[in-house]
Amino acid sequence: MTDMSHHNFRTPDSSGEGEAEPPQRNALRDRIRRGGAAPASQDARPVAAAPTASTAVPERARYQPEAPRPAAIRQTAPPPPTAPDRRAPEPELRRPAPVRPASEHVRDTPAHGDATRSRPAAAHPRQADPKEVGQAERRGGGSGGEGEGVDNAVLPIGEVLEIAGSGSRIAIDLKRLNECMLDQDPSIAMAGQVGSQIKIRVGDGWLLANVRNQKQDRHISGSVVANIDFLGEGAEERLTGKLHGFKRGVTRYPVPGAKIFPATTQDLKQVYASDGRSSVSIGRVYPTKDIRAGLYIDAMLGKHFALLGSTGTGKSTSAALILHRICEAAPEGHIVMIDPHGEYAAAFRHTGVILDVSNLQMPYWLMNFEEHCEVLLTSAGNERQVDADILARCLLHARGKSRLAEQMGKITVDSPIPYLLSDLSTALQDAMGRLDKATNSAPYMRIKNKLDEIKSDPRYQFMFSGMLVADTMADFICKIFRMPGGGKPISIIDVSGVPSDITATVVAVLSRLVFDFAIWGREEKTRPVLLVCEEAHRYVPNEKNADGSSVGRVLSRIAKEGRKYGISLGLITQRPSDLAEGVLSQCGTIIAMRLNNDRDQAFVKAAMPEGARGFLDAIPALRNRECIICGEGVTIPIRVRFDTLEESKRPASDDPSFVELWNSSGGEEEAVQRVVQRWRSQG
Ligand SMILES: Nc1ncnc2c1ncn2[C@@H]1O[C@H](COP(=O)(O)OP(=O)(O)O)[C@@H](O)[C@H]1O
Ligand SMILES: [Mg+2]
Repeated sequence: MTDMSHHNFRTPDSSGEGEAEPPQRNALRDRIRRGGAAPASQDARPVAAAPTASTAVPERARYQPEAPRPAAIRQTAPPPPTAPDRRAPEPELRRPAPVRPASEHVRDTPAHGDATRSRPAAAHPRQADPKEVGQAERRGGGSGGEGEGVDNAVLPIGEVLEIAGSGSRIAIDLKRLNECMLDQDPSIAMAGQVGSQIKIRVGDGWLLANVRNQKQDRHISGSVVANIDFLGEGAEERLTGKLHGFKRGVTRYPVPGAKIFPATTQDLKQVYASDGRSSVSIGRVYPTKDIRAGLYIDAMLGKHFALLGSTGTGKSTSAALILHRICEAAPEGHIVMIDPHGEYAAAFRHTGVILDVSNLQMPYWLMNFEEHCEVLLTSAGNERQVDADILARCLLHARGKSRLAEQMGKITVDSPIPYLLSDLSTALQDAMGRLDKATNSAPYMRIKNKLDEIKSDPRYQFMFSGMLVADTMADFICKIFRMPGGGKPISIIDVSGVPSDITATVVAVLSRLVFDFAIWGREEKTRPVLLVCEEAHRYVPNEKNADGSSVGRVLSRIAKEGRKYGISLGLITQRPSDLAEGVLSQCGTIIAMRLNNDRDQAFVKAAMPEGARGFLDAIPALRNRECIICGEGVTIPIRVRFDTLEESKRPASDDPSFVELWNSSGGEEEAVQRVVQRWRSQG
């Protein structure tokens, strides 16, 4: 009997053509409608297997015990503006599958136990189950159709089966799920689906949870088993019935059997409403039409953030959007953006300062010894050690010759003190001259040659120009950190024109300046700086891709210690799995757009908090311009559709239209001439 009933009441996997038998009454549905303490799913099987048990209960009677609950909630919860329309419409009007006349059901119903056994299971279209059960119920109850009575907001959709620390397993009634799907409130329409929010009654309050996954219940037809992650809890506002005072985390757990309700847009409004902290609004909470998604600025910047997503998902535009909103909210901010592709100049032309090789004027003497080595040493292995020793001696000598050094007294190879490149050259020359015949002069020559090469290469002039010898350190810092901001709180440092062999070093110097400035500024009033790094995987690579450059160490250090000194890091990358280990987990807020690669997805999941799992599974399915945000910057994980950013504020995305460009011509020869000219002059 048991086996047979399993067979009979399983929701078939494949849909058959033709007529589906109305299956057994759904035991879960009976339980959630009775509202009583419910047995676990397994215990319910025999009930499900006994058709007479359910058919004996008239439909209205089955709803009766529920009455106090919906009535109570309805009393206290004013219907949203669309309430009269929120009744689930007659399902058969909307559902595409043809509905057989009720008379057929009447004929079928008493026989369904046998009938299903006599047909192959596959003959039951999957979709037919709930529909047909609904039919049977309407007919059986004689209530004139549930369309009149179903208020999806107040009728449970399932119940709790099992509880664990951070989540739970629930059973959802497929028919209720389908009823909800037709609801006009988009959050009710999503209720119970993967990634949606549901609420569970616990005492006189609500627990909010997120549906992580769903699985067909093999034992009870029309029932779905799902895992949920708890998000937080709130009280029920006595007068309005709304969920209010929502807080992250759970203090009171439900018990198995507790009823599950859809979270309504009204509820989510309360959940996502700003709790008074300053926030910037960046988009719309999915799936609602009108709930604004905000990021708490202090919380997000206080613990770093990462913006991740495959190319083309809208990362750069979203980064620009977030930074624009922050700049608008904090016009006296200090934001430094490292822009390897020169995309962001277009976005921040009016609200930021654009620095590139033509106007950056970053003095070479700001480099510490390690960075000098990266630029000037060409050897490897043992030779490199020898060269480094020589460079250290000569650099210290050159730095010591400046007037500033004389005033300072003690200096080191790392001291950011101006020196003349010619002094370094002379120091190398002199040291070479003092060598006895037996000593190899090649190391000296290697460094000197590289130095000469850089001095004469026009591409390096933004940094290694003789003009940069004046003591401009304070001015340089004021310029890049926007101190004062003068209404332009962001500086875009476009490093696309920097020769590729020193780009990493330039980024290292800039990042280290942020860090050192914060450390040496401890005595001063804190002026927090946000350092945003595009293509972060290039600069903080994992071990596999590491080239031992100093930029990775500086950024990792900022990730670990920066927050103590008021430095915030914003990492943007399309390859989170290539980021150095641990860096992502230092990011308190993760904004994940679609990631197409499995490894990247796994990496992001590992770095995200547990409660966000249900959302994470949506990462491969996100549309462009959609993201999942979790962590400090938001109350609970949210799926957001970013606002449309005005064209003038968007970064220059270099996605050329082949069709357009290959259909126009003119001026090619002149253009090529100009390119060749620039190419040769390297400027
Ligand atoms: N919020 C948005 N508003 C307007 N356009 C957007 C938005 N997000 C993305 N886009 C458009 O989508 C395209 C790809 O965006 P982009 O930011 O360059 O992606 P990615 O940096 O991930 O490669 C661009 O053409 C951009 O204009
Ligand atoms: Mg981009």
